Amino acid sequence: MKDYQKLLPYCALLVLLSICPNLLADSPLETKMNQMRKSFRELKKAMVAPVEADKQKYLSWVAELKSATEASKALDPEKTSHVPVDQKTAFLEGYRNKMDELADEIGSLGKAIEASKWDEAKALVGQINQVQREGHQKYRSERDEH
Ligand code: HEM
Repeated sequence: MKDYQKLLPYCALLVLLSICPNLLADSPLETKMNQMRKSFRELKKAMVAPVEADKQKYLSWVAELKSATEASKALDPEKTSHVPVDQKTAFLEGYRNKMDELADEIGSLGKAIEASKWDEAKALVGQINQVQREGHQKYRSERDEH
């Protein structure tokens, strides 16, 4: 095989990546979701054995989770482009309502933490998990699931 022929697969990859930048970059919604994953993961871990002294730290994660949720509400899921035209409005309305539900639960979590109501906070973490599951089942493309 000639030297230049060895380079062909790399050239093909470069061409592919340049015409499909989405293969590499996260969409704005994915970026927000990844921020949500980080702060929610911290909260889930912390609520196993919460301590009064760390309350401010918990509240800062709640604030991060809340603002990423609000930003997500303004974005459209990738799946929207596969929804039939006459169902798009209802699909997006359902999506934004679900985000409102999530923001409400996060607000309640903040209040429970503020008041050191730890059992309530733990239950709310479970409810947020549930809303996440429902949101993903309905609004996330199947190919995105992992
Ligand atoms: C605490 C709650 C949630 C967390 C931690 C979370 C986290 C995530 C993560 C880690 C991803 C994958 C991002 C990637 O592929 O890089 C994702 C994707 C996604 N999530 Fe969530 N999620 C939450 C709640 C929700 C809710 C309630 C909805 C719907 C109302 C939702 C809709 C989506 C959609 C549509 C995607 C695919 C991204 C796209 O279409 O562009 N998520 N989420």
